[in-house]
Amino acid sequence: MRVGIIGLGYVGLTLAIVAADSGIDVYGIEINPHIRECLENNRAHFFEPGLDELIARHNGKRFHFGEQFPQDIPFDLFIITVGTPLRTGEKLPNFDYIKSALDALQSVYAGSELVILRSTVSVGTTRNVVLPYLSNLCGKLEEELLIGMCPERTVEGKAVEELRTLPQIISGNNGQALAAGRNFFERITPNIVPVSSLEEAELVKLYCNTYRDMAFAIGNAFCLAAQSFGVDGVSAIRNANQGYIRSNIALPGFVAGPCLEKDAYILTFNLPDCPSKDLILRCRKLNESLEDAVVQWVRQRLGPPAPGKVVVLSGMAFKGRPETSDLRGSSSVRIGEKLSKLGYILRLHDYVVHPQDLAALQIGDVYAELSRACEGASLLLILNNHKKYEMLQNELSQLETTADFAVLDVWGVCDRENCIPGMEITTIGNLRMERIGGAS
Ligand SMILES: NC(=O)c1ccc[n+]([C@@H]2O[C@H](COP(=O)([O-])OP(=O)(O)OC[C@H]3O[C@@H](n4cnc5c(N)ncnc54)[C@H](O)[C@@H]3O)[C@@H](O)[C@H]2O)c1
Repeated sequence: MRVGIIGLGYVGLTLAIVAADSGIDVYGIEINPHIRECLENNRAHFFEPGLDELIARHNGKRFHFGEQFPQDIPFDLFIITVGTPLRTGEKLPNFDYIKSALDALQSVYAGSELVILRSTVSVGTTRNVVLPYLSNLCGKLEEELLIGMCPERTVEGKAVEELRTLPQIISGNNGQALAAGRNFFERITPNIVPVSSLEEAELVKLYCNTYRDMAFAIGNAFCLAAQSFGVDGVSAIRNANQGYIRSNIALPGFVAGPCLEKDAYILTFNLPDCPSKDLILRCRKLNESLEDAVVQWVRQRLGPPAPGKVVVLSGMAFKGRPETSDLRGSSSVRIGEKLSKLGYILRLHDYVVHPQDLAALQIGDVYAELSRACEGASLLLILNNHKKYEMLQNELSQLETTADFAVLDVWGVCDRENCIPGMEITTIGNLRMERIGGAS
């Protein structure tokens, strides 16, 4: 089986390599020269456990890549895995990359191969945008073509493992397309979930992410409510869940990253006005509001920016567990940008993100060691839940802090019982109480 993949980002590259590892011949195309350069050196352009070893094993054998598809090879199917970000400055989906991916097929697509859309799109995009586009490309009727929508649902940091274990949602515009899609994914995983239509597959993907978004919004809403009563929000949620099987309330925190920041907007983009649309968007906005709450806390705490007031931002990747180097859609980055715009002096640190990528943000000096970053600083903001923050006392054991040094541990990860004596640590559970001058 010969498969062409358009886009070798997180989704395309992990799928390409796991497919190659399952005995499939894969040709991937990628327009970004940096990504191709990394692949020439047998590595991915991002951190993903186990991926580089597999790239080295299959590169030039079952896995091939380039800027364009070779013209002399017959393909059985193509998979589109390009990004579907929101339009800059707007909350509207941008499917320009999908159109450019379809253009990339022009010279190799005969109209008989299955084309699978794997990118996350609004409901109806596969049938109403991709299918007519393909029909135009090859000059065949839409009914003659084979198209599938098979969304990606892996979590960054565990993609290699999950591609082989997660149920794969399969759909097709007819029985033949469905069977061809099934035939491909069954080579990778035994877990196949065929769904009734292209639209159902699009919806399933959007439900999975929006469900998470809304579930986290409940945790954030309850946390805020607790603080209005002068109660620590994290503590109230922990105790509500403690040993009580009917409560599984999410702990409060940022809800971000390249998927969760946009998928609720993609779901509601063409959903007619109705109570569910309103509820979905309110949850998204509540989650987004946490970033401003942190910025406000810093302003309240430090007062206006001044030369001696240094803020350390640690945990710049959008999450710490599983570990990732991904800065896209990260609340930490947006908070950094806002604080930098306000004039605060920032220092940046992350356990996984490459220092060059942190420097490219151009919002602060980059430090490899957390304790060095904190020397002489006024505030440390711990912005993701990386495991190393649990043992903050080890990380900062050599640190001589200033008298007013304080820590905001957004996720409540560090072990406060065993932390450095006298070090003041605030979590998101009492952030707002501090703002209104209450207990913390
Ligand atoms: N990142 C995730 O873990 C994840 C998980 C599930 C679903 N998704 C969805 O999958 C899609 C892809 O996400 P991603 O994170 O891999 O995006 P990405 O931006 O990392 O990867 C897309 C790649 O496609 C390349 N590209 C764009 N146009 C191209 C063209 N015409 N020809 C060749 N290459 C082209 C880009 O340069 C980029 O490297 C999105 O819709 C996303 O929402 C992502």
